Amino acid sequence: MSDETDNKGQGIALGLTNYGDRDFALYLRKSFAKSMGYSNEMLDRPVVGIAYTPSGFNNCHRHFPEMLEAVKRGVLVAGGLPLEFPTISLGEVFLSPTSLKFRNLMAMDTEEMIRAQPMDSVVLMGGCDKTVPAQLMGAASANRPAIQIVAGPMMTSRHGEERLGACTDCRRFWAKYRAEEIDGEEIDRVEGRLATTAGTCAVMGTASTMACIAETLGMSLPGTAAIPAVHADRLRAAEATGIAAVDLIRRPITPKEIITRESVENALRVLLALGGSTNAIIHLTAVAGRLGIDVPLTWLNELSETTPVLVNLKPVGANYMEDFFAAGGMGAVLRELKPLLNLDCMTVTGQTLGERLEEPLPYVDRKVIASASEPYEPQGGLVALFGSLAPRGAILKRSAADHTLFEKEGRAVVFSSLEDLAARVDDPDLDIGPDDFMVLQNAGPRSQSGMPEAGYLPIPRKIARQGVKDMVRISDARMSGTAFGMIVLHVSPEACIGGPLALVRNGDRIRLSVKNRSIDLLVDEAELERRRAALAVEEKVERRGYDKLYAEHVMQADGGCDMDFLLPTQG
Ligand code: FES
Ligand code: MG
Repeated sequence: MSDETDNKGQGIALGLTNYGDRDFALYLRKSFAKSMGYSNEMLDRPVVGIAYTPSGFNNCHRHFPEMLEAVKRGVLVAGGLPLEFPTISLGEVFLSPTSLKFRNLMAMDTEEMIRAQPMDSVVLMGGCDKTVPAQLMGAASANRPAIQIVAGPMMTSRHGEERLGACTDCRRFWAKYRAEEIDGEEIDRVEGRLATTAGTCAVMGTASTMACIAETLGMSLPGTAAIPAVHADRLRAAEATGIAAVDLIRRPITPKEIITRESVENALRVLLALGGSTNAIIHLTAVAGRLGIDVPLTWLNELSETTPVLVNLKPVGANYMEDFFAAGGMGAVLRELKPLLNLDCMTVTGQTLGERLEEPLPYVDRKVIASASEPYEPQGGLVALFGSLAPRGAILKRSAADHTLFEKEGRAVVFSSLEDLAARVDDPDLDIGPDDFMVLQNAGPRSQSGMPEAGYLPIPRKIARQGVKDMVRISDARMSGTAFGMIVLHVSPEACIGGPLALVRNGDRIRLSVKNRSIDLLVDEAELERRRAALAVEEKVERRGYDKLYAEHVMQADGGCDMDFLLPTQG
């Protein structure tokens, strides 16, 4: 076997340690590889690693065995040797305190296993919310040729005459149940119908937003983001991904050449045009950060001015991911955005984005994907707010909020922690009305809770019963990409490190203006100073292991919640 670096890759000889007798090391490695039954012919091929993430705790990846077969088929037919390897998997709803905390762990796992094992290129099989950014972060840092194939979205199901899809409808029905519009028996029936196939949540939540971002960046094959998980096209896409992974070895293109300032800008445009998940801004910041690309929230606001909302999908609109796929998917969205995009960006196919978009699509369903000349909204779905309550910014998904709450001043009703919220939110004696601003503290990245998706504070039951569907809610937490409402998130700096959010008290006035992109705490500086001095010093909790590493190094939301030591070194 040739162990020289050439454009056919180094195969299993890659990375052999140079101490002692190198030929002996190769002979040893080959003999162990042969114990798996491979022939010399196979072991002479370039190696495509496959970061493989099925798990008994991840329903969204339950079809991965079948997809893996298809990826391997593609690699074999193109002349490579496919070797899958496990990394940790993150099934969104099964992780405590929150999946975000483990995204960086998965990114580290992915990066180190790509680097440590002999593979000339890697296929990243991800899907559920945090797995897509984790793999992109790891692959960006490892900087070996990489291509991603996502799980694809679930299909919808039926409840009576209604279509149901996780998990915007989960919230809608739960809100009805809380408002006593439906009973326990009905909510039990709904429970069995929300998530019925393999794949990721059926709406433009975090998983689908990140899938669309991966495709926009150029890290996955054109047209693959929205193919339903159970559709035969997804298996063909997996096969094509395997073939492309071998091509990437012959014509090496690394993540660093694909994820650039220009392609990140394209991804931000797409995020805005999709009215995508608020989580995606954190993830995209983290992915870009791995390559030294800064994503200030002011950039999001600048692009928001000129990027129209083009899709009519839940949680903002009416349709599901399967409709988006049938309507033309990302190919249609990118063609509408074309005049706004940087078209020279390189992609995993070796084509630029501009080359990809040369041919028009034969059909686009305008009920689901609008034209740029007649968009659903003239401006982007997400905005960043700044002000005395959030000096380093906060995020609002305005496309998913009640517009009558956009310019408003209100009285703060403060919950000091998740526990406090749980204990009091439904207390009939709670002093709160529909015009108050609910404020949740101590749920940011450094808090014990690790920035959970708790920003979607439940409307207090007594107010929900009056038929109130939306209220202003403010926190340093996140919100599920499938949720909706007038919800101000990611307030930075967070309360638990002494950010201004920690200083809010019951009865304070807060002023919010979407037009001015502002959020201010209307309390004079002298009073704030007094409160700051009196802030209870946080009880020192003893932490160990990954929990300790995370707490000591996680950056704020505006830094993508990555850990500081994972950023590139200056060299
Ligand atoms: Fe996996 Fe929603 S739970 S994508
Ligand atoms: Mg989610």
